[in-house]
Amino acid sequence: MNTSEQRVAVVTGAAGGIGRAIVRRLAADGFTVIASDLREGAAQDLVDEVGGLYQAADVTVEDQVAALVERAVKEFGRIDAIVNNAAQAGALGPITDITAEDWKRTVDIVLNSCFYGVKHAARAMIAGGHGGAILMTTSISGQRAVGGHPYIAAKHGLTGLIRAAANDLAMHKIRVNGVAPGYTLTPMTQQMFGGEEAARQVLASRAPLGMVIEPDDIAAAFGYLASEGARAVTGQNIIVDAGFMEAQSRSISFQRDPDYLAATSK
Ligand SMILES: NC(=O)c1ccc[n+]([C@@H]2O[C@H](COP(=O)([O-])OP(=O)(O)OC[C@H]3O[C@@H](n4cnc5c(N)ncnc54)[C@H](O)[C@@H]3O)[C@@H](O)[C@H]2O)c1
Repeated sequence: MNTSEQRVAVVTGAAGGIGRAIVRRLAADGFTVIASDLREGAAQDLVDEVGGLYQAADVTVEDQVAALVERAVKEFGRIDAIVNNAAQAGALGPITDITAEDWKRTVDIVLNSCFYGVKHAARAMIAGGHGGAILMTTSISGQRAVGGHPYIAAKHGLTGLIRAAANDLAMHKIRVNGVAPGYTLTPMTQQMFGGEEAARQVLASRAPLGMVIEPDDIAAAFGYLASEGARAVTGQNIIVDAGFMEAQSRSISFQRDPDYLAATSK
């Protein structure tokens, strides 16, 4: 049993690259964490390392997400934060080849799962009466057309969910925010780019800061958003992409536009 001041967080996708880093970050910041994933072994190892507990949940099933929140309240008396992080990249390829089944499955995993997390965490936080932080892992795919069609559409949907829920829940002192990773070195990107070494090279070459974004870089933003330091921040989506998206403006930026430079140097 926990002391009543001990903050409690639920993290989904806790066995994955970014999820593991988020669990470690929140545990280091003093949260007791309920780490959830479909992959019990890796999540249980993490819990053995940082404390808290493991509970299995398929995030596409509303009752299983609700059960994570219920466990937090039953076991520890409260819930202060939830990080809806679990996702899969889904089907790639031309939109003309995407089946309705592929589409629905990805929207279920990426978007609907977060709705369940927001809904049930918000209910418990409202009942608890001390506010809270509802967080989700979004993506640069929620800002630009990077990735598979269903994934892009579902990640864009998260931006709307964050804004709508932030607006709705502010009166309860519940903050709703996201972190949008750029390409980050995790099993997801290693699989995408053909192993760790290849992924490191691709990631560094796409990041204007010339670096590989590690899961800890993403977790640091979650640590901030879950903390009192972010008590005035809601409805936001912090982009952690080593400059990837802003690099696109370079081609139309006046400072580097050859026509502009030629005209002004005359
Ligand atoms: N790695 C990147 O470059 C990157 C970039 C942008 C956004 N993201 C996002 O970051 C989050 C974490 O991704 P990651 O890179 O750590 O991937 P990952 O594959 O390492 O981890 C994802 C975890 O989610 C779990 N999961 C998948 N489907 C599930 C389900 N239905 N129910 C419960 N758990 C499920 C998996 O078991 C896995 O442990 C995802 O939301 C992803 O979309 C990742």
